Amino acid sequence: MPDRRTTVLLSVLLFASAAAFVEELDDSFMETKGDDEIWLIKFYAPWCTFCKQLDPVWHQIGSEYRSLGSPVHVGKSDATANTGLAKEFRVRTYPAILMLKKNIKYNYSGVRTKDGIMDFANRIAGPLVRSLSSVQLFQHAMSRHDVMFVYVGATSPLKAVSLSTLPAVVVFKDGTYFTYSEERDGDLKLWINRERFPNFSQIDSYTLYAMGETGKLVLLALVEEKHLCEESLRYKSLLESVAAEHREIYSREMYFGFMAGSDYISGLVMGEIIVPTFIVVNLSNDGYFLPPGTVQTEQNLLDFLDGVLNGSVQGHGGNGALQRVRRLVYDTRVTLAPVFSHAPLLGCFLVAFPLTIGACFCYLCFKARPTVVDEDGTPLLAPPLGGHKKSKKKSD
Ligand SMILES: *[C@@H]1O[C@H](CO)[C@@H](O)[C@H](O)[C@H]1NC(C)=O
Repeated sequence: MPDRRTTVLLSVLLFASAAAFVEELDDSFMETKGDDEIWLIKFYAPWCTFCKQLDPVWHQIGSEYRSLGSPVHVGKSDATANTGLAKEFRVRTYPAILMLKKNIKYNYSGVRTKDGIMDFANRIAGPLVRSLSSVQLFQHAMSRHDVMFVYVGATSPLKAVSLSTLPAVVVFKDGTYFTYSEERDGDLKLWINRERFPNFSQIDSYTLYAMGETGKLVLLALVEEKHLCEESLRYKSLLESVAAEHREIYSREMYFGFMAGSDYISGLVMGEIIVPTFIVVNLSNDGYFLPPGTVQTEQNLLDFLDGVLNGSVQGHGGNGALQRVRRLVYDTRVTLAPVFSHAPLLGCFLVAFPLTIGACFCYLCFKARPTVVDEDGTPLLAPPLGGHKKSKKKSD
């Protein structure tokens, strides 16, 4: 008995010390937190084993930030109990790791290690703009970022680049750099938004979506998820060299990349896609372009690109009314197909049940419909319900 009490006491103590570094948050969090506070939050469910595995990591992160005196607050929240908060953060899977800074939420989807998570948290918590006061700092920053925007002042020590006019805004990416020009590139903010991706990279569905928001087209080499066949490798390297050699001509209008696995694109084109293939997608209107013939050479690929840009290659998809109907049908089919193949009876039930309910409902509605009466009170369709009512009305 005393043993047991000690254990309980010990675990209470442990819990208390853990709670000191990691705060348990509930639905009142959004109202009670300070405006300028930065939060790193883990959403968990009591039954989720991955969440439990993350506990020690979370505790370490909490204690490290506390001992560093970092402005990052570390918290956790039981998403099954605090559904309001979980909804606010759009938590769909467990554990979900999110950051909140100035009312903007950032989702972490990398590996769940202390280093990975803290790297992410430091990046977001840190100032958005850093001063690169020495060439070493600049080089360090360059080694860590694929794309970097730099404001170069008139007295900058940065001699690595030769710029004709200072001050200038420069983007470093793809092993090169170029400057922003207001008259050529328009609004600075939009330019930064357009240029924030490398010219050629691996693209996942999230990146593709974000690229679409820049208004640029995306030329993809669609390859297998893993174990690329020889043809896929050829497609990939063909695209990479076109992207590098013709960057000047196309980079204003499109991004290049390869995507592993065809699921996302199959969804977009609403059909089977045979990999490897090239495809240009226009995320602004869900449109897409496929090469008219096989692409063997660099010239074939360039012809395809020019065709897309000058309108001679036929576009598909889009967001017209007809496409929306097709999408609705497609989505329903895709959702129901696995159910039918795994459990045909359940599938039939899923389709038949709402239909039956609907039919019953219609039937009942029709039956319960008030008798249609013409101007002087004579029922038109239905037989008279009560003779005396009718005669009373007539006598009025
Ligand atoms: C991509 O979609 C946008 C928006 O509908 C459209 O203005 C643009 O012309 C399209 N680009 C191409 C190459 O079709």
